[in-house]
Amino acid sequence: MLNEKVIKLLNEQVNKELYSAYLYLDMANFYTNKGLNGFAHWFKLQAKEEVTHAMMIQEYLQDNDIPVELEGIAKPHGVFNDDVKAPLVLALEHEKFVTNSIHTIYEEAVKFKDYRTMEFLNWFVKEQLEEEKNADDLITRYELSKNSLLMLDHFLGKREEE
Ligand SMILES: [Fe+2]
Ligand SMILES: [Fe+2]
Repeated sequence: MLNEKVIKLLNEQVNKELYSAYLYLDMANFYTNKGLNGFAHWFKLQAKEEVTHAMMIQEYLQDNDIPVELEGIAKPHGVFNDDVKAPLVLALEHEKFVTNSIHTIYEEAVKFKDYRTMEFLNWFVKEQLEEEKNADDLITRYELSKNSLLMLDHFLGKREEE
């Protein structure tokens, strides 16, 4: 049986992953409105990935016979005005926030000698490194191709689902 605190944090993480999907969908919509369909495509796939993360945590809870309690998803907090770079910066900031959140659950699992949850979370710890790297790379690429935004947009449009 998982510890109550760990259960609560995992439940909250389901919500955070779904919120991430919402946030990235909002960014995709921002880029669609700007005519940058490659950026939009990139963030739509990102949103899908976040839904997958939420599903994984749900299943883990359910495999442990714990009912999942879905909470309301907040309105995405991004304010981008006309700044094409702003969502990229927010995305990196947000992934760092999610990394911290995963680490907090891990710390609780360690505290309660919950080896099962530690093992489950290992995938997420690794994934967050990837997520932060991707978000950081995107800012670098943006800076490098500011004068040829359409080329970067074309490149981002080629991202394939994993
Ligand atoms: Fe995620
Ligand atoms: Fe993420």
